[in-house]
Amino acid sequence: MSPNSSSLEALKSHILELTAEYSRLAHSSNRAATDPLKPTWNKGDPIPYAARVFNEDEVKAAVSTTLDFWLTLGHEGTCFEGELSSFLGVRHSLLTNSGSSANLLAITALTSSKISQKKRLNKGDHVITVAAGFPTTVAPIIQNGAIPIFLDVNPKTANIDTTQLESAYCPGKTKAVVLAHGLGIPFNIYEILGFCRKYDLWLIEDNCDALGSTYSMPVDLANKLGVFNSSPGLKPQPGYITRWTGTWGDISTQSFYPPHHMTMGEGGAVNIVQSNLLKKVVESLRDWGRDCWCPSGVDNSCSKRFDWSLGQLPQGYDHKYTYSHLGYNLKPLDIQAAIGRIQLTRLPEFIAARRSNWDYLRKGLNSCSEFLSFALPTHATAWSPDAGFFWDDTGCTTDCSWFGFMITVKPDAPFTRTDFVRHLDTSGIGSRMFFGGNLVKQPAFVNLALQYPDSFIVPAALTSSDILMNSAVFIGTYPGLTSSMLDYEIEQIKSFVEAY
Ligand SMILES: Cc1ncc(COP(=O)(O)O)c(C=O)c1O
Repeated sequence: MSPNSSSLEALKSHILELTAEYSRLAHSSNRAATDPLKPTWNKGDPIPYAARVFNEDEVKAAVSTTLDFWLTLGHEGTCFEGELSSFLGVRHSLLTNSGSSANLLAITALTSSKISQKKRLNKGDHVITVAAGFPTTVAPIIQNGAIPIFLDVNPKTANIDTTQLESAYCPGKTKAVVLAHGLGIPFNIYEILGFCRKYDLWLIEDNCDALGSTYSMPVDLANKLGVFNSSPGLKPQPGYITRWTGTWGDISTQSFYPPHHMTMGEGGAVNIVQSNLLKKVVESLRDWGRDCWCPSGVDNSCSKRFDWSLGQLPQGYDHKYTYSHLGYNLKPLDIQAAIGRIQLTRLPEFIAARRSNWDYLRKGLNSCSEFLSFALPTHATAWSPDAGFFWDDTGCTTDCSWFGFMITVKPDAPFTRTDFVRHLDTSGIGSRMFFGGNLVKQPAFVNLALQYPDSFIVPAALTSSDILMNSAVFIGTYPGLTSSMLDYEIEQIKSFVEAY
């Protein structure tokens, strides 16, 4: 006899109650710092540079969808895609199995035959980017046969030095700008978007490290760039347009790997700001290259499944098996999407915690400024403990959803970055370098240049990328950090610096 649905529902809710009880016991240290059930941190316990922050709700969501056993991207995925796009105020968000896959899709989309010849990214075309950062922001440019033009960065913001833009432009060859908002610090959107509008270039924002960062621009400047609305959910500032990063360009990408602002384990998303065509192309590339757009388990969404005549296929060939791109399969599981949906509800609280942790560390470490320098958001000229940031005269400002707290050891410091990170390490404080540092010095790029000398271009010295590679390190700002953990980090760093 098969069980009736109410007995199944009752059994499932019992399992979920037990799941919640288990998670409250097993995962208490993963809770947010503000959660009363978070256990006290004891001196000597390690403090990672990042950690997944969740409670029993995420675990229940994962178990519930696992019991349903749909597995492939389905109801949870559709809901999460809608919720993420609404949160950001973009037209579409498409889930992927990683941020790297999202970058691959975003850049590959520009090569589609569905894009006009003038705008299409063809083999040998140029894409302007920076040398300092994460490798999979730029790898898809090369993987698609285009040529990255590696510009230098501003060492304070870890973002593009915009003074090099004009000279990097090559008429007829430059098709796109691809940049990450490094460590949660928005790049100079006013300059970059202006440059892209001037030369009709695509702008892809790698927003993997910056979910929740915002950029404000005076209304007249924004309107000149064709931007007329602030993002939904942001406090209006009269006279300014304020938008989330990841919503200014054509396409943006997210990573939901655990150190990022929210997690689904492995995972990511491509956000399509406006264009329905780009959405179709990205979705096709993500889903095997197919022309059909039916979700998993659905047939004939187009109502003419056996009526199409495409390519040189016979009339009526099954649309489900018709391929308009050389695609991939880069979808996550529905279980991951279910976790992501819960995490998204916590995102505002996570963003606020990252900001307040950064401020706490900045104030606490101010006395170390003789030998250490600290990141500044784009458009900030200085910082003071009482007034916070001072801004340049562009009228543009940024509010960072910090991925980490970046510290650079000054050239005249009596210790090296290695001395400093060794001290952090022996004190149990997790740290990371600025991802791949100057990427062109990585073995992958050195070997590439030997094999294919024309595969990327470095038009000018990468002096500041080298500074980040040689002297920078970052520690965490994630929402699981309690004030006692932050106090310990401050105390350890201060005592190290004061010893010199
Ligand atoms: C700027 C940036 N882009 C892309 C990625 C890749 O994301 P994922 O690890 O989800 O592939 C990362 C990873 O941390 C990143 O920092």
